[in-house]
Amino acid sequence: MKISIIGTGYVGAVTGACLAELGHDIVFVGRDTKKLVLIQSGKSPIYEPGLDALLEKNIPRITTTVDLPDAVRKTSLTFICVGTPSNPDGSIDLDQVRAVSHTIGKSLASADGHHTIIVKSTVLPGTSETLVVPIMERESGKRAFVDFGVASNPEFLKEGTAVADFFHSDRVVIGTNDARSRAVLDALYTPLGAPIYATTIRTSEMIKYTSNAFLATKISFANEIGNLCKAMGIDSYEVFRGVGLDARISPHFFRAGIGFGGSCFPKDVRALIAYARMLGVEPQILDAVMDTNEDQPTKMIDLLKRHMDIAGKTIGILGLAFKPDSDDVRESRAIPLIRALNTERARVIAYDPVAINNFKRLFPDVTYTDSAQDVLGADAVLIVTEWKEFDDLDYHGKLVIDGRRMERARKEAGVYEGVCW
Ligand code: UDX
Repeated sequence: MKISIIGTGYVGAVTGACLAELGHDIVFVGRDTKKLVLIQSGKSPIYEPGLDALLEKNIPRITTTVDLPDAVRKTSLTFICVGTPSNPDGSIDLDQVRAVSHTIGKSLASADGHHTIIVKSTVLPGTSETLVVPIMERESGKRAFVDFGVASNPEFLKEGTAVADFFHSDRVVIGTNDARSRAVLDALYTPLGAPIYATTIRTSEMIKYTSNAFLATKISFANEIGNLCKAMGIDSYEVFRGVGLDARISPHFFRAGIGFGGSCFPKDVRALIAYARMLGVEPQILDAVMDTNEDQPTKMIDLLKRHMDIAGKTIGILGLAFKPDSDDVRESRAIPLIRALNTERARVIAYDPVAINNFKRLFPDVTYTDSAQDVLGADAVLIVTEWKEFDDLDYHGKLVIDGRRMERARKEAGVYEGVCW
């Protein structure tokens, strides 16, 4: 099939590259010509392991353009992969979804043949039917689900493993309201071999939010139990190893520590909380999930204070990305942590294998180094992101506060405190 991908962030770039690998012709549509030039030359516009190789290998099937109407006319499928960031009050910002719906609708007016629009962006339940569809019908003068298809197909890609997650999904979720769109998505995803869970559009949209909200809840639950275990001198990782053996619970996403960051969990839980309130449903558990997550990084400061006065000292930070194998610093737990260290009038020296340039924009006054060794020379070391290379460092004689459970530090550090163990 000929497929347009609107949006060249990690969802759009990964989705397009993986669909090209499945043999489809892909047109990446974006506004950032620098990113488009990179993609056209087989280079990933984002740091995502394995993506460069996939783009390079599939260059013959890939084109890029800033001309969305032209792309819609030349393809039979369009994936909407634009961002849905948070508004200041936590509610979802649908401006990009609204804008591309307008442009796609206008393009459909003059497009011949059937076209299916697939909303892969994370949108609240009801958005495709109450926002995307009416705009496209108005702008095109055509009928949704008859003259053109609209479907939901949320992504479950984790940064750092997104390519593998695409090809080895536990399930593909598709939401359709018409048989033709269902057939198109079945044909597209059957080659993956993953179970296809077909449902309505708004149920599909809710599955995405429920999945992320539950995973975030699981992490905050692990952190609350972890804080309790810390107070009792019990290792929460040992506890969750035993708890996770229950098939109903599973061992995954019980890594207690300093909490979740990233471009998804925080924004999606906040959006669901705001939507629930608007519907008059009090989101008590989700509020607690976010409160626990906000508090978690400060546990490192509390632990550090048990061992030293922080004011005027140099505190080393190992890791700035929100998770390993990513350069993404959105909602990284390093952000509240460094804010707290600044309040305590500590000096900060920080290292991350790939995220320094992104982080520098947020904290230009922090000292950054391209060597983890320099960080070990600080008065204390805080482990914030569990990069594999941090297990190759020599922690002997160091004071280490560990937010991410690095085994070598736990075994070797001169003075060691784990946040939840
Ligand atoms: C998440 C979801 O996992 C994915 O399904 C969805 O499509 C997008 O959002 P992502 O945010 O990229 O993926 O990474 P993930 O591995 O889920 O980690 C998110 C945050 O949770 C990171 O800050 C990570 O450090 C933290 N985390 C994760 C924990 O603190 N403990 C865990 O056990 C797992």
